[in-house]
Amino acid sequence: MNASPSGALAEYFERCQDRIDDALERLLRRAAAEDRLAAALAYAGLAKGKRLRPILVFASAQAVGANPDATLNAACAVELIHTYSLIHDDLPAMDDDDLRRGKPSLHKAFDDATAILAGDAMQALAFEVLSQPQEQLPASTQLQMIRTLAHAAGPEGMVAGQSMDCAASGQSLAENELEGTPQQLATAQQRLEDMHQHKTGALISASVKLGALCAKDVSAERLAALESFASHIGLAFQVRDDILDVEGDPAALGKPLGSDDRSDKITYVSLLGLGAARTRAVELADAARASLQPFSSAADNLREIASYIVAREH
Ligand code: IPE
Ligand code: IPE
Ligand code: MG
Ligand code: MG
Ligand code: MG
Repeated sequence: MNASPSGALAEYFERCQDRIDDALERLLRRAAAEDRLAAALAYAGLAKGKRLRPILVFASAQAVGANPDATLNAACAVELIHTYSLIHDDLPAMDDDDLRRGKPSLHKAFDDATAILAGDAMQALAFEVLSQPQEQLPASTQLQMIRTLAHAAGPEGMVAGQSMDCAASGQSLAENELEGTPQQLATAQQRLEDMHQHKTGALISASVKLGALCAKDVSAERLAALESFASHIGLAFQVRDDILDVEGDPAALGKPLGSDDRSDKITYVSLLGLGAARTRAVELADAARASLQPFSSAADNLREIASYIVAREH
């Protein structure tokens, strides 16, 4: 399996990362009317992230045969929302983490107020980019894209998940439920999956959907297949993140280990243990790949990404 992307997938990742990094560079270098905010946007937005969500936009568009030129703004928009979520996630009021993408977190390098404002700015900028008139896309499609991303980022998506995560922090709920009946354990797992689907799955699903929206006509069957794929990899991605928080290499991850434990978070590992969490991640990746049955080799990058997500080391 792919601990880090290798071979053809590595090349594909590099091409996608270069494309998105160039676009973000152009966007963020000219994005602010105030110097400190401009520096903060560049500091966080141009730091080395994996760019997985933009890559999913590109790979999903490829699967449905969309024009690649139509994908860049959507890819930038989803990465801006993701980066804003990380900036806020690291704040003392949330996970209180000092390291992100191998550098001091934004609030450490600047201050809390600047980190809050840079996150706010990135969120607004995402929708400005997404609504930019574009030759390759009808306005009605762009409107659908805006709704898709807003829904995934907002109070029924990522922000709800973060809110569930905050509400569950510091309660030894997992321990109580672990000692309970199988039914109580199943309920706890269901709640955990619900939280993960919101805080992480929603933006990952939006990335796949935005890619699909770049094509003119995609059958209902194919859209449903992509939806199922995205929902499985979204959950798998956060399960792997929970595992890496326990046994990852902080230098490779670029963020601290043990953040979840310190905040007494409910995670796959705290609830099920490392072994069962690993098994669950692999099951989810298998299910994700199986969802892509209606697609030809055009979806091979998506298939490879599913394997990579659960074997990744960072
Ligand atoms: C980290 O996301 C936060 C989660 C949703 C688990 P990534 O692991 O994609 O972070 P970057 O973008 O590569 O820094
Ligand atoms: C964060 O989950 C998810 C979002 C930012 C929406 P985590 O708190 O587990 O992410 P990391 O581990 O800090 O990257
Ligand atoms: Mg968090
Ligand atoms: Mg965190
Ligand atoms: Mg984490």
